[in-house]
This record gives sequence, structure tokens and C-alpha cells, in this order.
Amino acid sequence: MELVQCIYCSASTEENLSDQALEDILEQSRRNNARADITGILLFDSGAFFQVLEGDSSAIDALYLKIKKDTRHDKVTRLIFEPIDERAFGEWSMGYPKITKEDLKEIPGMNDFFAHGNSFMELEAGRAKTMLSAFKKGNWRV
Ligand SMILES: Cc1cc2nc3c(=O)[nH]c(=O)nc-3n(C[C@H](O)[C@H](O)[C@H](O)COP(=O)(O)O)c2cc1C
Repeated sequence: MELVQCIYCSASTEENLSDQALEDILEQSRRNNARADITGILLFDSGAFFQVLEGDSSAIDALYLKIKKDTRHDKVTRLIFEPIDERAFGEWSMGYPKITKEDLKEIPGMNDFFAHGNSFMELEAGRAKTMLSAFKKGNWRV
């Protein structure tokens, strides 16, 4: 068993993703992830997804392949895939923290990025980690 974390971003293929469509993804994710001991969070803003997946490397590999083929999004881009000592989101089979771009701008080092209208699709590994550490510190925990 090797615990890993995978972070990717992608673009919704549905121009205006409905709340129900998002709810369907979350419901499906929570059901499957609980069974596979996978945890994480999903963010959605301006047509782009940002997802953190944590679990055993073989389970995460298999899920990532499945997710990549999902036609509800495309341009699936892996930002990080690395071993971790402990989970950042152990209590969430798939959390959906309610955050806005304004909240994201408050993360030290991220203001410029979101203030310029960039989307998750423009993130790279360094910024993904900055965002992740803000989440780990609990800024948006419910
Ligand atoms: C943005 C996005 C995130 C997803 N995240 C997950 C996830 O965390 N876990 C999961 O099982 N499926 C996730 N899915 C759905 C999978 O792509 C796939 O449809 C699903 O796992 C198939 O489940 P089933 O085998 O129960 O039909 C996600 C899909 C999208 C579009």
C-alpha cells in the first residue's frame, strides 16, 4: 500500500454545468470513493474543475484513468502525482468546499493569479501546492 495524492484540472464540456449535474458527479464520487478508500476535494469555477484525489496508488491510478475518459469534461491535465505521508482530506470521500474566486484571491501568492481572471486550467504544480496548503490549514473547512 502506497498512499499517493493526485491533483488535476480539467474543463467542463457542458457550457453551463447545472447544479444537478455537479451534484450527480459528487454523489457518484462519494459512493465509489468510500468503497475504494479514496478521499479528496473537488472545486468548480468558471467551467473548470480542480480535483485532489488521495488513496492507494493502484486505486488512484485506476480512478484517474476512468475520470480521464469521462465525457463530462476534457483537457484533463495532471498537475501532481506523488507519495504522501498522510491524507490532507481524510474526512471527505469527496468534499465540495463552497469557495469563490474572492476567497481564492486571499491565499497568499494567489491574488495575482485569480485577479487576472485565470482559471484552474492555467494552474501548474507550484500554484496547485500553494492552494492545497491553504486548504490544509483549514481556511475553508466546514
Ligand atoms: C470532474 C469529475 C470528477 C470525478 N470524480 C470522481 C471521483 O472522485 N470518484 C469517482 O468514482 N468518479 C468520479 N468521477 C466520475 C467518473 O468519471 C466515472 O463516471 C465514475 O467513476 C463511474 O462510476 P460507476 O463505475 O459507478 O458508473 C468524476 C467525474 C468528473 C467529470
